Amino acid sequence: MHIILMGPPGAGKGTQAVLLAGQEGIPHISTGDIFRAHMSQGTPLGKLAKEYVDAGKYVPDDVTNAMVRDRLAQPDCKKGFVLDGYPRTPEQARALDEMLAELGLALDAVINIDVPDELLVERAVGRRVCRSCGATYHVRFNPPREAGRCDRCGGELYQRSDDQEEKVAVRLNLYHSQTTPLLQFYKERGLVRTVRGDQPMDQVTADIKEAVRASR
Ligand code: AP5
Ligand code: MG
Ligand code: ZN
Repeated sequence: MHIILMGPPGAGKGTQAVLLAGQEGIPHISTGDIFRAHMSQGTPLGKLAKEYVDAGKYVPDDVTNAMVRDRLAQPDCKKGFVLDGYPRTPEQARALDEMLAELGLALDAVINIDVPDELLVERAVGRRVCRSCGATYHVRFNPPREAGRCDRCGGELYQRSDDQEEKVAVRLNLYHSQTTPLLQFYKERGLVRTVRGDQPMDQVTADIKEAVRASR
C-alpha cells in the first residue's frame, strides 16, 4: 500500500504512521523526522533546514523534493510506504506524481486526519519526543511511565523547537493556506478518506485501519 497521511500539525500523523507502517510492514517516511535527523547531525541539509523548521515555516520545495526523491528510490518503497508530512504544497504534489510515475508506483490512499484547530495547540505544546528512538508522548494525553524518560528505550525526552505556542500558530496558518488545497487535488482522484482525529488514539488507529482496508 502506498499511502499519504495528511493532517494539520499535531493531528497525530506521526503517532498513527508508526503503527500503520508496522502493521503493513512498510517504511514510515516523515519529512519532518528526516529534517530533524539532519539537524541533529549538523549536515549541510540540516543547517539549511534548521532556519525554516525552527521558525515553523516550510523548507523550500526544491530541497524537500530532492530529499524525498532519494528516499522513494530506495528498494524498500516498492511494496509500499506511509508518507507523513509530504506533500505539503501543490508543487510537491506535482513532483510526487512525477517521481511515482518514474518509479512505476501509484498511490492507493490519502488518509486525512481531521482535528479542530482549537485542540492542536495543546497537543503540540504538550508533546515530548525521545531523543534516541523518536517515540512520541504527551504530558497529558499519553504520558510516559517516568517523567522525561522513554518507555521504549529509556532515552531522554525533549520538546521540539517548533512546539512553542506562537510557532504552532505559524504552522497552522501555513497548513491551511498551503496544504489544505491538496485535499481537493486528491479528492478529484477519489483517493481521500477522512478520519476523525479528535477521538482516543486507539479509535483513530481502528478508523485508519478501516480506511486502508476500504482502499485496497
Ligand atoms: P513535521 O514534523 O511533519 O510536523 P507537523 O506537520 O507540524 O506535524 P507534527 O509532527 O507536529 O504532528 P503529527 O501530526 O505528527 O502529530 P503527533 O502524532 O506527533 O514537520 C516539521 C517541520 O519540518 C515543518 O514545520 C517544516 O518546517 C518541515 N517540513 C516537514 N515536511 C515538509 C515538507 N513536506 N515541505 C516543507 N517543509 C517540511 O501528535 C501530536 C501530539 O498529540 C503528541 O503529543 C501525541 O502524543 C498527541 N496525540 C496524538 N494523537 C492523539 C489523540 N488521538 N488524542 C490525544 N492526543 C493525541
Ligand atoms: Mg509528526
Ligand atoms: Zn525512546
